[in-house]
Amino acid sequence: MSRVALVTGGTRGIGAEISRALKAAGRVVVANYGGNDAAAEAFRSETGIPVYKFDVASMAACEAGLAKITAEVGPVEILVNNAGITRDGTLAKMSRDMWDAVIDTNLGSCYNLCKLTFDGMRAAKFGRIVNIGSVNGQAGQYGQVNYAAAKSGIHGFTKALAQEGARFGITVNAVAPGYVDTEMVRAVPADVLQKIVARIPVGRLGHAPDIARGVVFLTADDADFITGSTLSINGGQHMY
Ligand code: CAA
Repeated sequence: MSRVALVTGGTRGIGAEISRALKAAGRVVVANYGGNDAAAEAFRSETGIPVYKFDVASMAACEAGLAKITAEVGPVEILVNNAGITRDGTLAKMSRDMWDAVIDTNLGSCYNLCKLTFDGMRAAKFGRIVNIGSVNGQAGQYGQVNYAAAKSGIHGFTKALAQEGARFGITVNAVAPGYVDTEMVRAVPADVLQKIVARIPVGRLGHAPDIARGVVFLTADDADFITGSTLSINGGQHMY
């Protein structure tokens, strides 16, 4: 069945791979992005997946974006809350703006988009929501009180909403990636990253398709008994 899947932050990094994998699985995919027009246009022309620019941290922007998607493509039945940013720094150096930006973008976006799609999923008696958490939300990470709090919040959010969706055929799960070879991870200072990779039992960074395969699995039509779970994909870095 051609269900519409929205992937936030879906034109770059892990999100782009999730978009591609869902399309390969037969979904009608739309990819949201926040700012990088050139990357989004390159992604659109390479994949044929339509792209929608709006700020997931803003409820008003999400409302307008979803209205457009619904009118142009159809109601969203599969939602992947993947958009995320980092503003790393020790607490001593972290401004309130760095805190707010990460909480609003990474966690507030889950509220915004679940809020706006949940009623439609309830009415359809079908929905698949996957929220992208992080190993750093499970285990914490030096220099990331904002990011760890947001990602940890995503894990709690997922378990709570899973209970609300269960009666209506809506599953809500989280995928918790470890360190994946993307721009975000490549921004970590090389010496710090080297130490982190040394602690990954599999001995390497993850690749975006390692994460995308988990999302495809959790969003399958017949994955209807899997809800409230967290799928950790981290090369054994943290076993949780
Ligand atoms: N544990 C204990 N101490 C640590 C430490 C750690 N993990 N990391 C650094 N320190 C210590 C340093 O040794 C240093 O101590 P001294 O002053 O005694 O030498 C002190 O903390 C300050 O360190 P820095 O000089 O590095 O401080 P900084 O302010 O310049 O940078 C930082 C701090 C921004 C946190 C930097 O260390 C950093 O970028 N760390 C990596 C953070 C990280 O892993 N981010 C993940 C991004 S990817 C992602 O988030 C995706 C995902 O989901 C996995």
